[in-house]
Amino acid sequence: MENLPDGIKNSGALEIRDRLGSISGGRVLDVGTQEGSFIGLLMKMLKDYESIVGIDISEEDLRKAREEFKDGPVEFELMSGEKLTFDDDSFDTVCMSHTVHHLENIESVLSEMKRVLKPGGYMIIQEQFSDGDQSDAQNTETLVHHLDATVDTWKGIPHFETLSRHRLNDHIAQLGMGTVEVFQSSRLVQCLVCKEPEDCEDPRSKRNVEEGFESLDSILENAAGHPEYDKIVAEAGRLRERIQETGYMPASLLFFICRNS
Ligand SMILES: C[S@@+](CC[C@H](N)C(=O)[O-])C[C@H]1O[C@@H](n2cnc3c(N)ncnc32)[C@H](O)[C@@H]1O
Repeated sequence: MENLPDGIKNSGALEIRDRLGSISGGRVLDVGTQEGSFIGLLMKMLKDYESIVGIDISEEDLRKAREEFKDGPVEFELMSGEKLTFDDDSFDTVCMSHTVHHLENIESVLSEMKRVLKPGGYMIIQEQFSDGDQSDAQNTETLVHHLDATVDTWKGIPHFETLSRHRLNDHIAQLGMGTVEVFQSSRLVQCLVCKEPEDCEDPRSKRNVEEGFESLDSILENAAGHPEYDKIVAEAGRLRERIQETGYMPASLLFFICRNS
């Protein structure tokens, strides 16, 4: 860990890791788990935990998650965060990572998460934001993300633009949790466990630029048959040029660690 590049060391990610390392997770729920990558991070970073349940509305993603975690104390269930089938006060920790902007009804998912959380339990939310303190390379990533959201929405998959810091803070404040700690990081916390972090330091590195191009390629593949496919192709072309100019880096994120009263 100590050999990390300065960009990661000074990003805010280490403070999040240290805070997670002080939390005993107990029974953990991860909402919008997709293939379970946040669960993998929590398993490495929490002080300890008893068991973990991941839920998602995509059976295809859950199939991959079950395969990935077949040996661990982790279960996956097809379920919407809007209507959790768990009892009140049944989890010690509830989490959600990079999923708020995928929700059609953010308030109902957050209030369901609070309902199933025990008094004194932890709510952990990680989400990228769109405004303030973002470099040109990060703004480029946000624009690529918005094109992705446009195409997903057309296909009937809930996916919206990145929320502002203000809106995220408001959603959390409305929950009325006992305490709210807010961390900010310009790097994904996952970068702390990456085997090749050096390659990401330069937004214009071959690896970062190629990642941006690959995202555009996959958006275009997804957009096949779109009635305004030509417009999507033109926008992807503009973003490709922008990636070459600015480079490509993930947007900064807010990391909320809240405690239920
Ligand atoms: C960007 S992915 C999450 C990534 C993952 N949590 C991680 O950190 O790697 C967003 C996920 O939210 C899921 N999702 C969208 N609406 C949902 C809902 N109402 N309930 C549960 N999951 C939902 C999507 O199916 C998708 O897998």
